[in-house]
Amino acid sequence: MEAVVARGLTYRYQPGGPLVLKDIDFHVSRGEIAAVTGLSGCGKSTLCYCICGAVHHNRDGVMTGQVLLNGKNIRELRAASLALEVGMVFQDPDTQLFSPTVEDEIAFAPENLCLPPAQIRERVEQALDLLGLAALREANPYRLSGGEKHLVALAAVLALDPPVLVLDEVMSQLDQAGKKRVAAALKRLRDMGKAVIAVEHNLEAVSFADRLLVMEKGELLSCGRTAELLADREFMEARGLIYDPPGL
Ligand SMILES: Nc1ncnc2c1ncn2[C@@H]1O[C@H](COP(=O)(O)OP(=O)(O)O)[C@@H](O)[C@H]1O
Ligand SMILES: [Mg+2]
Repeated sequence: MEAVVARGLTYRYQPGGPLVLKDIDFHVSRGEIAAVTGLSGCGKSTLCYCICGAVHHNRDGVMTGQVLLNGKNIRELRAASLALEVGMVFQDPDTQLFSPTVEDEIAFAPENLCLPPAQIRERVEQALDLLGLAALREANPYRLSGGEKHLVALAAVLALDPPVLVLDEVMSQLDQAGKKRVAAALKRLRDMGKAVIAVEHNLEAVSFADRLLVMEKGELLSCGRTAELLADREFMEARGLIYDPPGL
C-alpha cells in the first residue's frame, strides 16, 4: 500500500474561486523522498495543506478528489489520528512554534500522546541530535533565525514519529551547513521507511530526492525520477526552473 496517494485532487479557496490545484494525481511510497517544485504561486503550499488535512481548517475551501494516507481517506480521519499519520512543517514556522524552549517544543507532542517520560526524553534527544539542535535546547524558539525555527518545527514533528512527513520550503532559509544537516536527516528518514514530501524552490536542496514533482499553475506537469528531470534542462528551463549542480 502506498504511503500517500492523491487522486484527481482539486482545490479552490472559496466556492466559485479560481482552481488552485487542478486534477493532481501522484503517489509516494514508504522509503521514498518526493520533492515538489515550481514557481511561486503554483500551488505547492496548498498541495501540502491538502495532504496533511490542514485544508479542512478553511471552511470555505472546496476540495474534490481523494487523499489517502496509508490507505486511509483523510476526510475520515479525526485531527488526533491525522497527527499520527502525517507531520507537516509549514513554510512559516511561526505558525507552529509556541513553547518557551526548544526542548519543550519538541516534547510537546509526545507529552500529549501520554508516552512514558523515558520515551519522551529519548525522542527529544534523538530529534535534537538528528538536526544538530542540542546546543539550542534551552533557547526560546521565537528568538531563533528563520532557518533555526524550521529545524525546531521539524524536530517537533519528528518527535511524533509519523510515517509521512511534509516539509514546505524548510531549506530555503538555512545556510549550507543547515541544508546539509536537513538533507542528511531526510536521507536517514528515508532509510527508516518514512515517506517524505519536500517542497523546495531551490533545486540543489532536493537533488537527492527520488522523484521530482514539477508544478505549474496548479497542474502537476511531471512526477518522474529526479535525475532524469534535472538532466532535461530544456523542460526545466521552460518552466522557469534552474538547477545549478552540485546538489547536497
Ligand atoms: N488563503 C488563501 N486564499 C485564497 N487564495 C490563496 C490562499 N492561499 C493561497 N492562495 C492562492 O493560491 C495559489 C497557490 O498558492 P500557494 O499554494 O501558496 O503557492 P506556492 O506555495 O507554490 O507559492 C496562489 O494563486 C495564491 O494566491
Ligand atoms: Mg508556498
